Amino acid sequence: MTAPTTSFAVPEYVKNQGLIDWVSEMTALTKPDFVHWCDGSQEEYDQLCDVLVANGTFKRLNPEKRPNSFLAWSDPSDVARVEDRTYICSINRDDAGPTNNWVNPKEMKATLAKLFDGSMRGRTMYVIPFSMGPLGSSISYIGVEITDSAYVAVNMRLMTRMGKAVIDALGESDNWVPCAHTVGAPLEPGQEDVSWPCNPSVKYIVHFPEERSIWSYGSGYGGNALLGKKCLALRIASVLGRDEGWMAEHMLILGVEDPTGRKTYVAAAFPSACGKTNFAMLIPPEEMGDWKVTTIGDDIAWIKPGEGGRMYAINPEAGYFGVAPGTSYKSNPNAMRCVESDTIFTNVALTDDGDVWWEGMDGAPPAHAIDWQGNDWTPDSGRKAAHPNARFTVHASRNPVIDPAWEDPAGVPISAMIFGGRRSTVVPLVYQPLSWAFGVYAGATMGSEMTAAAFGKIGEVRRDPMAMLPFIGYHMASYFNHWLSMGRRVSQPPRIFNVNWFRKDSDGNFLWPGFGQNMRVLKWIVERANGQARAIESPIGYMPTYDDLDWKGLDFSREQFHALMDVERSDWEREILSHEELFVRLYDRLPKEFMAIRELLLSNFWRSPDHWELPDYAQNQ
Ligand code: GTP
Ligand code: SPV
Ligand code: MN
Repeated sequence: MTAPTTSFAVPEYVKNQGLIDWVSEMTALTKPDFVHWCDGSQEEYDQLCDVLVANGTFKRLNPEKRPNSFLAWSDPSDVARVEDRTYICSINRDDAGPTNNWVNPKEMKATLAKLFDGSMRGRTMYVIPFSMGPLGSSISYIGVEITDSAYVAVNMRLMTRMGKAVIDALGESDNWVPCAHTVGAPLEPGQEDVSWPCNPSVKYIVHFPEERSIWSYGSGYGGNALLGKKCLALRIASVLGRDEGWMAEHMLILGVEDPTGRKTYVAAAFPSACGKTNFAMLIPPEEMGDWKVTTIGDDIAWIKPGEGGRMYAINPEAGYFGVAPGTSYKSNPNAMRCVESDTIFTNVALTDDGDVWWEGMDGAPPAHAIDWQGNDWTPDSGRKAAHPNARFTVHASRNPVIDPAWEDPAGVPISAMIFGGRRSTVVPLVYQPLSWAFGVYAGATMGSEMTAAAFGKIGEVRRDPMAMLPFIGYHMASYFNHWLSMGRRVSQPPRIFNVNWFRKDSDGNFLWPGFGQNMRVLKWIVERANGQARAIESPIGYMPTYDDLDWKGLDFSREQFHALMDVERSDWEREILSHEELFVRLYDRLPKEFMAIRELLLSNFWRSPDHWELPDYAQNQ
């Protein structure tokens, strides 16, 4: 690579005049000291990591424990996405809808122009060409991110297809998304840099859906800064999908191979930090060892109608930006294997032997560590060593259960879609809404208790339609209509299911063991989608009885299962009434189906007993 400290020269392989012009405009605006075009090579990655080590952003981890791995600690003001600072600046306010922040695009551009003016002074601008989706495929979208963060550049190399090959694939086309990012911390001559530059008080994450451009100011963390992920592959892509007849979803994609070797693909939407990475890499319990799960993706799915009247999904990403706390060889062995080397860790703790640690890792906590804020930490210090939204960045090729089709540009046919929020009460372990429209309703009204990955009061239930509340690039109710119309567009839409791994007893203990044991539920879902499993009708949809699940090797009683599957009439009446709050906000564009479905659900409860309990086949038949 050319050293990052040489010149403003455009590499000779870059021929796209529109791109060259944009980079030169952005250079004039942001006034960096140097411009570096990323070629995406290993040497470049290694050199940038060296730069990051030299300026204190990275610590190189003990090569014997974590080869080729680094640890970064962010500024305490910059630890997660900032939903209150995220904007959809469509021309008309109504098109952004009531769930998005909106500012008139002209006004926003004026604000951004001021903020970006000179924002890269004293820094290097990295130009990062990236492809969401396999390189050169007709379904992929190319973006070019300019950023003054080398941390962003190295993360983008793990999370996307990045570098010269993307420039070659782009050719002279003007079909690419400009993504402007700055940490918003220019350096005066002689001013010493900090290890995590950002703007602690001013942040803007802005999308212009009509012109398909992204501007991000002030944050260096995750989805705020790696602009291919939430900004392009979800917010901008959701608008493209609406216009072009496909879907961009906050979904993992996995493959399930049954004992006969048949493969079924499943997509699942769970809100941030609610178990997508875990589910995408699930290892079935030993007694179900003849079932296999493989990963296509862990966070984002692009889904298009295709052959045979089915929907096909691809993962536009090339890596995982996963939640570290709670990840262990017990809860997610495959994720632990992914991060054994070649990983960037952010906001986890540093152990005395130069390795990483976080809450929930296997074994006893270390007697001493340095926490994510750089302070001494001991198990009795009463503080968390890792930030709850601490993450690892790792390339998908490190995943031991990567699906062989994960880069297939045709995508994989989706047989089932699953929605799942984090609900300690009310919502049963699993049910299947009666039809596509009932399923869309269930997804649209999904509630979840807040986690550290999002902005809000931790633990409080919020409606997070399809896990897309922070990621939809247009009016939420138009998005519901788009879902309904997508179901009508294919002859074999996926079957829709709802799960809840997080139901608790009155003492606050999880009722369901979760993680690998989720295979038991997944098996029923797959068999059900393939027309093989039994179910009975409950007031909210179809449900498996105790005898319909595979319990081999798990000591889980009928009573325990019934507690998990219980449908309490008064809870559900309240739940359904509370859907109204969301519907009132979306009133003018709400699908008319939703009112009908709500009425039907209420009427189902009219005839149901106070506690609706699962029957047993043994007693019924
Ligand atoms: P984003 O990357 O933020 O979109 O989220 P994600 O859905 O990929 O989150 P991830 O899989 O990393 O979720 C991590 C959190 O979910 C951790 O706190 C886990 O302990 C918890 N979790 C995952 N699966 C289960 C489960 O089956 N049961 C329980 N109780 N917790 C789970
Ligand atoms: C999420 O919050 O859903 C994430 C992490 O996947 S981030 O990329 O930071 O948005
Ligand atoms: Mn996510």
